[in-house]
Amino acid sequence: MKKSTDTLILLNKKSIQANLKNKLIEIDILDAIDSTNLYLKKYIKNRDTRICIAEQQTKGAGRLGREWHSPFGLNIYFSCLYCFNKDINELSGLGLVVSLAALKTLQTYIPNGLNVKWPNDIFYENKKMAGILIEAQTKPENKTAVIIGIGINVNMQNDDNKISQAWTSLFSILNKEVDRNLLCATLTNNLMDYLDKFDKQSLIAFKEEWHASDCLFNKKITLQNATMTTTGIAVGINDLGNLLLKTEKDEIKIFSSGDTSIKKE
Ligand code: BTN
Repeated sequence: MKKSTDTLILLNKKSIQANLKNKLIEIDILDAIDSTNLYLKKYIKNRDTRICIAEQQTKGAGRLGREWHSPFGLNIYFSCLYCFNKDINELSGLGLVVSLAALKTLQTYIPNGLNVKWPNDIFYENKKMAGILIEAQTKPENKTAVIIGIGINVNMQNDDNKISQAWTSLFSILNKEVDRNLLCATLTNNLMDYLDKFDKQSLIAFKEEWHASDCLFNKKITLQNATMTTTGIAVGINDLGNLLLKTEKDEIKIFSSGDTSIKKE
């Protein structure tokens, strides 16, 4: 548990910038905001990469209309505005690429046991540590602006019963506080590398890396989307990042969206 002598180290722009590879990236650090994704929407006309990180979100948004629990000073609520030289139709699989950048970042703290869970979560021993929410907007000349939101449970030790699914944080595993400024810089550096590579290439360049940490592979899972629930064995992803499920009839079904969970035997 947190000791009463522990002091809260706040987010600090200079500390983050000191460890950035690209010092020219605009960064906004906020005390509190409704949502860092919403904040960046006012900059979506620009082409320049911009990052927003907040100490707290009052309306943190998760996937599928869920809320993202965002208490003050403990976690990372990070959004990045990035403009791709690609049409929106070519961005399929972007969520998986962002997950891999977040995974690489978290593996600097926990080298073993972290995994990606389709479509874009980071898990440790069946508990969620990080989630990703991406919003895209078409631009002229076949370009697309995206707002990539990443929430990471860092120093959170309890959730006041606000999170309905099993979760974990870096603190829960390491039993020590993590410097969020260094974590934000590493995340930014990795994210830029992965986005620049995805902009020039495609998901195919990342498929092996996905496969190496895919916690669903060869597991019996349930996929729930807006219209149905399907059970089968997860057998990886296709070149678009869609999930492949082998059913009892040995058919391969392809899913582009949904929520996945591993079935208990
Ligand atoms: C999920 O449901 O797994 C996605 C969670 C995404 C949360 C992040 S926190 C920063 C950014 N701002 C938001 O309002 N949501 C994303």
